[in-house]
Amino acid sequence: MQENIHPSDFRIKQYDRLKVMNQRPVLLWFTGLSGSGKSTLANGTEVGLHRLGFKTYLLDGDNIRCGLNNDLDFSREDRVENIRRIAEVSRLMMDAGLIVIAAFITPLEEDRKLIQSTVGEENYLEVFVDCPLEVCERRDVKGLYEKARKGQIANFTGINSPYELPSNPFMCIKSHEEKTSVSVSKIIKALENKINL
Ligand code: ADX
Repeated sequence: MQENIHPSDFRIKQYDRLKVMNQRPVLLWFTGLSGSGKSTLANGTEVGLHRLGFKTYLLDGDNIRCGLNNDLDFSREDRVENIRRIAEVSRLMMDAGLIVIAAFITPLEEDRKLIQSTVGEENYLEVFVDCPLEVCERRDVKGLYEKARKGQIANFTGINSPYELPSNPFMCIKSHEEKTSVSVSKIIKALENKINL
């Protein structure tokens, strides 16, 4: 708790909002290398949930780094701050009653543990988008791997910055072996009994 800060206790609680929203909020967190397919899967999952009538919001690395986190780079300390802010934003959105979908590289287990403790272990559903570096690099959708190999980008995940494999993800999606629509259906099926009130 911050010194000299006294949070108020407001009358409307998450429980009250959930009755109106008619759903149980979770944080579906996609982690994986740049170019692994996180944003594509997150997008497909949100479309599917939206069609089923769930109230959602999607937070995505590149988008958030253009606004809320445009003061942060890819140093170790800024990556921690990036994830800390997203975890807090997710917590607020879940308190508001939303199902939150997040797509961030989140390369370190320590940072993924921080998200889990921020939103509560039972609410954090991690999806590891397991796509080999060679495949991400071959796709190179944004041309960033080429730049990183030429030494033009510092701390690029998978090239000169580490990615630690998730130890116990809720789901593992091999995006290079399966069509996006098939993966999305699997994810939504696994989610449904968790998000229905
Ligand atoms: S994270 O590591 O802090 O979780 P985040 O998901 O927010 O990363 O942002 C990743 C995106 O930023 C990548 O998809 C890529 O487009 C871009 N990017 C730019 N520089 C880097 C870098 N050094 N390492 C990884 N991604 C980078």
